[in-house]
Amino acid sequence: MKAARVLEYGGQLLLNDVPMPTIEPDEILVKVRSTAVNQLDLVKASGTVRQILPIDLPWIPGHEFSGNVEQVGSAVTAWVRGDAVFGTSDQGAYAEYVLVKPTTIAKKPTRLSFEEAASVPIAAQTAWQGIFTHGLMEKGQTILIHGGAGAVGSYAVQLASRAGATVIATASRTDEAYLHSIGATRVIDYHDAPFEKVLREKVDVVLDLVGGDTQKRSFEVLKEGGHLVATTQPVSSEETTRHRVSGAMMRLAPSAGGLHRIAQLLEAGTIRPDVASVYALHDAAQAWKDIAANVSPSGSRRSHGKIVLRVAVEQA
Ligand SMILES: NC(=O)c1ccc[n+]([C@@H]2O[C@H](COP(=O)([O-])OP(=O)(O)OC[C@H]3O[C@@H](n4cnc5c(N)ncnc54)[C@H](OP(=O)(O)O)[C@@H]3O)[C@@H](O)[C@H]2O)c1
Repeated sequence: MKAARVLEYGGQLLLNDVPMPTIEPDEILVKVRSTAVNQLDLVKASGTVRQILPIDLPWIPGHEFSGNVEQVGSAVTAWVRGDAVFGTSDQGAYAEYVLVKPTTIAKKPTRLSFEEAASVPIAAQTAWQGIFTHGLMEKGQTILIHGGAGAVGSYAVQLASRAGATVIATASRTDEAYLHSIGATRVIDYHDAPFEKVLREKVDVVLDLVGGDTQKRSFEVLKEGGHLVATTQPVSSEETTRHRVSGAMMRLAPSAGGLHRIAQLLEAGTIRPDVASVYALHDAAQAWKDIAANVSPSGSRRSHGKIVLRVAVEQA
């Protein structure tokens, strides 16, 4: 089968012929239609985080996908050949086939194309778990989402607003109209003014998808007893104690049940995916270059939305 892989840290993505994966009894072999690019793919491949997130070289990136079940292991009963699915895998989805566990996939919403479906699993589940599992956000509360127009942020805005929260998002001005259209009550341009100087009220939950100084300054706007959930770096326990709040860095725990719940919202049109551009798998190296340069395929500045790799042409 064809797969895009890196042979060494810092190396180019190359489209190679590789052996088909061998299926175990508790696994499913999926024929991949699309996969999506996450910044973490590029970071891991660069080698800059090899001490904490090492990869086995040669490495096939890609943690999320959409596709059709090609073969089921002898112990798998829930799926049959041909089923349209989407989900996560740690086996490398920049490939024509990927091995997955039934515990991390769900039925693909029929309303979504395979390209749209591939863009969902990581961002939407991270947003859900960040808001509800870790942030314990409730109806009527106020949430501040840093990086609201990003892949995770755009689901967080939609899910929090649908759950009855007042949603304040930090983002670039160019994404303001988009954020209002998906449920943000207020958008603060992070280039313009420090959010802690602009906000008049304190918030119940901060979802920090940015880190660094943004996280540090977030303590100033969090109510006593509030929750700070971070996706990019650990949260200082000195700061949480000093401000009488709770805070932690979350790590996505993908689950079939969680993804199924999200699939139902997508199927109903309650939330929607956001695909910025689609590249063919053989152009994956160019997709990575464009992401690193923060430009779209046309060369203009990249705005919100996820980058998807089309692996196989869609079938009805
Ligand atoms: N811990 C986990 O389990 C987990 C899971 C998923 C993702 N993550 C991590 O979470 C982070 C966000 O992921 P993502 O996929 O949503 O990234 P993304 O799609 O690249 O979005 C990042 C967003 O942050 C905005 N931004 C940059 N600097 C900002 C600032 N100072 N203030 C406010 N917004 C700012 C960017 O806007 P502009 O482009 O306009 O600057 C962009 O819209 C990444 O670091 C990712 O690796 C962690």
